[in-house]
Amino acid sequence: MALQLWETLKEAITAYTGLSPTTFFTVLALGLALYYAVSGLFGSSDRHSRARDYGEQTQPLPPPVQLGEVTEEELKLYDGTDPGKPLLMAIKGQIYDVSQSRMFYGPGGPYALFAGKDASRALAKMSFEEKDLTGDISGLGPFELDALQDWEYKFTSKYIKVGTIKKSSVQVEEGSSSAAQPALSTDNTQEKPSSE
Ligand code: HEM
Repeated sequence: MALQLWETLKEAITAYTGLSPTTFFTVLALGLALYYAVSGLFGSSDRHSRARDYGEQTQPLPPPVQLGEVTEEELKLYDGTDPGKPLLMAIKGQIYDVSQSRMFYGPGGPYALFAGKDASRALAKMSFEEKDLTGDISGLGPFELDALQDWEYKFTSKYIKVGTIKKSSVQVEEGSSSAAQPALSTDNTQEKPSSE
């Protein structure tokens, strides 16, 4: 039965293509090999770039962890260089988990310079300058403040807020000379005695 089918197929190949079955299958195999070689070339690079674009998103991200108050120094640890840590960024002292946008803020990304920082000033001024990579928004004009507001809306709607930046060295009471070099101190864990 199968043999009969094979014979009919061979006859049909010769009749329709004018080629012997051996030649026909050789041509077919070469054609297929060429097709896979060419499409593999494009297909694999396509998959590769897609995987690169979406980075970690192929694996589900762990749920955002609430950090509470952290200092700017601590926030720097979340700039994406440690893949085990969430990727964080702050606007107006509010910290957001931007891990889902590692392609923007992760190492090598176009906005990696904002990661692990409060980038309010840079966003308000649409600036990538080092001096603007700060949460200090003093002296900004109304348009810049508007732009910053828009960024804040975008972040609150897109990302989860996971904490706030602890104001360091701000609670220096006037007349208090006990804290030496308060402006340089980033470690505020030791509270000054409040009653004295
Ligand atoms: C030539 C100028 C620029 C172009 C063409 C551009 C283009 C883009 C594009 C296409 C996106 C992705 C938008 C999305 O998919 O949601 C994006 C995101 C972003 N851009 Fe730009 N951008 C430019 C300048 C800037 C500047 C000057 C800043 C701020 C200093 C900035 C900050 C951002 C941020 C923070 C995001 C990510 C927002 C998010 O997390 O969803 N961009 N930009």
